[in-house]
Amino acid sequence: MSNEQMEHRLVPTHVAVIMDGNGRWAKQRGLPRSAGHKQGAKVFEKICDHCQKIGVQYVTAYAFSTENWKRPQNEVDAIMDLLRSYLQETLKQAKRNVRLIFLGERAPLAPDLQRLIEQAEESSAQNTGITVCVALNYGGRAEIVHGVQKLAQLAADGELNPACIDEALLGQSLYTKGIPDPDLMIRPSGECRISNFLLWQMAYTEFVFLDVLWPDFTPAHLDRAIDQYAKRNRRFGGI
Ligand code: FPP
Repeated sequence: MSNEQMEHRLVPTHVAVIMDGNGRWAKQRGLPRSAGHKQGAKVFEKICDHCQKIGVQYVTAYAFSTENWKRPQNEVDAIMDLLRSYLQETLKQAKRNVRLIFLGERAPLAPDLQRLIEQAEESSAQNTGITVCVALNYGGRAEIVHGVQKLAQLAADGELNPACIDEALLGQSLYTKGIPDPDLMIRPSGECRISNFLLWQMAYTEFVFLDVLWPDFTPAHLDRAIDQYAKRNRRFGGI
């Protein structure tokens, strides 16, 4: 295998990121927390571009959890506004060939945001470049409960034999239906936990925790995380 082929083989197919540290980054600069999220959103786009360049096929970012509603209203509003701008911009840039998917419960979101999400997903569904998944009002436990409810309903309606429920079927009942599990999950900002992110999907994901705040995260940090990933020996329970 040539060096180039080796390198290609070691690039993860799916990278998940927890965009953590925006608030601390803003505080260090005497800025409102929303300024940290704004910078975080810019970094997210740069990182998606870099992922596309190096051959990553799926990126999933944690933009807003089911628990984040507890934050002050002005911070919640600022994050939702950033998502609006991101969606509006994406709709204008159809030619970038990015497929956009949102993961999470949409009903509690503002109706205009729900519409933008639908438009962006529909208009990008046939794109063949990188798939960008944005976890918004997302919780890993809530996702599993939701999937189980769907299957339980089918069973109650007599359309599904409970004995036929297996891992593949539950996996197909989640928001990530059809998307391969993440190979690598990166959490910056020094926190070492998964915070209810992709609980089902990350059973065998490699974790890399970096001591940099998300707004300072650069393509070089991503490359470093991928280098660490490439050195790991993934056994998936085997030997
Ligand atoms: C966590 O950092 C970050 C969030 C809860 C919000 C992330 C949202 C964005 C970057 C903007 C919108 C996203 C897109 C895809 C356009 P934190 O606030 O918990 O940081 P802290 O731990 O330093 O307080």
